[in-house]
Amino acid sequence: MKGIILAGGKGTRLYPLTLVASKQLQAVYDKPMIYYPITSLIENGVHEFCLISSPEDLPRFEQLLRDGRQWGISIEYREQPNPEGIAQAFLIADTFIGNDPVTLVLGDNLFYGPDAFASAFEQFDGGATIFAYRVNNPEQYGVVEFDKDGRAISLEEKPVNPKSPFVVPGIYLYDNQVVEIVQNLKPSTRGELEITDVNTAYLNMDQLQVHRLERGFGWLDSGTSQSLHEAAAFVQTVEKRQGIKIGCPEEAAWRRAFINAAQIDVLIGEMPPCDYRDYLTSLRNEGVAVGAN
Ligand code: TTP
Repeated sequence: MKGIILAGGKGTRLYPLTLVASKQLQAVYDKPMIYYPITSLIENGVHEFCLISSPEDLPRFEQLLRDGRQWGISIEYREQPNPEGIAQAFLIADTFIGNDPVTLVLGDNLFYGPDAFASAFEQFDGGATIFAYRVNNPEQYGVVEFDKDGRAISLEEKPVNPKSPFVVPGIYLYDNQVVEIVQNLKPSTRGELEITDVNTAYLNMDQLQVHRLERGFGWLDSGTSQSLHEAAAFVQTVEKRQGIKIGCPEEAAWRRAFINAAQIDVLIGEMPPCDYRDYLTSLRNEGVAVGAN
């Protein structure tokens, strides 16, 4: 499965932080925000990536992530001249997608918890798979309504009166029909190609699976100063308590066997003395069980 990371947008709610660096390059505690969603996809076996951002910000991402080879992955870069909707990603990346299924993750989403996506990735065999997560402010997201048997029956983008507290996080899996579906989409009244309309198209074809994420799972986005701060505090709390790192692509790539111990040594050798380097060094000394999370 190919992976698209969408990291454009205006980040207006984070002004003036976003005057010179895009939202997804901001720090979430001890690493750039974009590390978190990339790590989530690496953990699920994705190794071919396309990163989409604005023409101004794209060179910064290339500087940070390079061609991905250092993590045993590949990364292509594509421009989104204007933020005309999340679903536009599939048009921008159509030649990257080719004939494959594709997962899209938003560059400002942070996921943490028990292997929530593993079965969805492993068992994906067509149609679309999205997730549902309970929040206390559903009106700010795409809302899923379930019937009494737990089947998804409607999707609404930022409804004034949400029909449920379950919303759709920024990670989606699609078969190859997605490109054609987006080609036939009309922009919404706010002028965007809406991801909710893509999901509704799959729902109408009876090809949408919605996995509910468990209560203990953590999903955060970092679009406002408050949520950015909360995400950083969350990461700090977990990392400090458990002595692990969340959103460490080197570790995920090693566990997935995308890179080996010798390559980890090279990466460690390139790092200045810092906490991040100490962490990877201690993993190296302990020896990571490949395939284990
Ligand atoms: P938003 O947070 O809805 O938009 P934004 O990042 O422009 O922020 P603000 O509302 O503060 O101006 O976008 C969600 C994610 O999707 C975010 O990571 C940016 C990304 N995105 C794009 O890359 N291109 C787009 O066209 C849109 C709509 C969003």
